[in-house]
Amino acid sequence: MSTIDFEAIFEAKLANNEFIEPKDWMPENYRKHLIRQVSQHAHSEIVGMLPEGNWISRAPSLRAKLVLLAKVQDEGGHGLYLYTAAESLGVSRDEMLEALHTGKAKYSSIFNYPTLTWADIGAIGWLVDGAAIMNQVMLQRSSYGPYSRAMVRICKEESFHQRQGYEIMTRMAFGTPDQKEMAQDALNRWWYPSLMMFGPPDAESPNSENALKWRIKRESNDHLRQRFVDQTVVQAEYLNISIPDKNLKWNESKKGYDFSPPNWEEFKNVVKGNGICNKERLEARNKAHNEGAWVREAAAAYAKKQNQLSTAA
Ligand code: 3HC
Repeated sequence: MSTIDFEAIFEAKLANNEFIEPKDWMPENYRKHLIRQVSQHAHSEIVGMLPEGNWISRAPSLRAKLVLLAKVQDEGGHGLYLYTAAESLGVSRDEMLEALHTGKAKYSSIFNYPTLTWADIGAIGWLVDGAAIMNQVMLQRSSYGPYSRAMVRICKEESFHQRQGYEIMTRMAFGTPDQKEMAQDALNRWWYPSLMMFGPPDAESPNSENALKWRIKRESNDHLRQRFVDQTVVQAEYLNISIPDKNLKWNESKKGYDFSPPNWEEFKNVVKGNGICNKERLEARNKAHNEGAWVREAAAAYAKKQNQLSTAA
């Protein structure tokens, strides 16, 4: 009797740029890697609602409020697509949320910094969503089908978010001297945390080798960080505000900018849970989850009733 070589089928799919789908055989480590990355990504989307949600009630105009409200709501939707993609790998939503709420799960370091002024909302859209898109465009071609398809829609919405942020920065940078100063201050505070979003340097990234081998990621942390810097410098020049890096310099031989790395000790500290806002973010998530218990119970009771009615019919 012939045996099926599942591993060879898996490898052939990767080699042919085909998707791996939930019912396909996959190596256990591939499944675990994806659960880790996709759930962390989902957590980042919903924790990312908090720093910006802080400004919905204080947006400077009705238009700005509507746009910000829509953006924050989009992030909640991104979290839902990604939790659903992770569930298709055999982990439950409850398990993932439990890990987030008890501080066991990671989420993006960037969301542990405070939003002090309206210019921060501009800087987040411009830099944070800009960095997210730089990273996520390649994830649209990730080897796991449900993750890749979720990323297609997420990327479309993230480009709108990036423009929303850049529009705010444009208004501030070309506004009054005080507004311009706020724009510069926001860039000063968000620049290095944005560079950290791409993860540790390649030489210190334990997951990159497998991620690239399995086509979960298509490009390395350092490569994406470099591309982000090269793209953003031109945008800062247009705004006539300065990137807070004395070593920033065009390097003709690599056709890109040389730049100072972020403080990796600060990064590790924030990821460990000791950033400025880690505690506040987890408290806010736990509070929202606990206060939403009655909604989950009502939804479950409704589904149960519908089920009983359809079985009885
Ligand atoms: N913040 C927190 N943790 C980070 C991190 C960051 N910025 N960068 C890396 N890490 C963690 C990793 O999760 C990993 O931890 P683990 O092994 O305990 O799970 C460890 O640091 C080592 O990093 P690696 O580079 O080896 O691991 P990864 O390749 O998994 O991490 C990554 C790099 C860029 C985060 C990559 O996983 C990735 O592309 N993830 C998907 C995209 C994502 O999660 N983006 C979140 C951005 S926020 C967002 O999208 C919301 C939007 O609205 C702005």
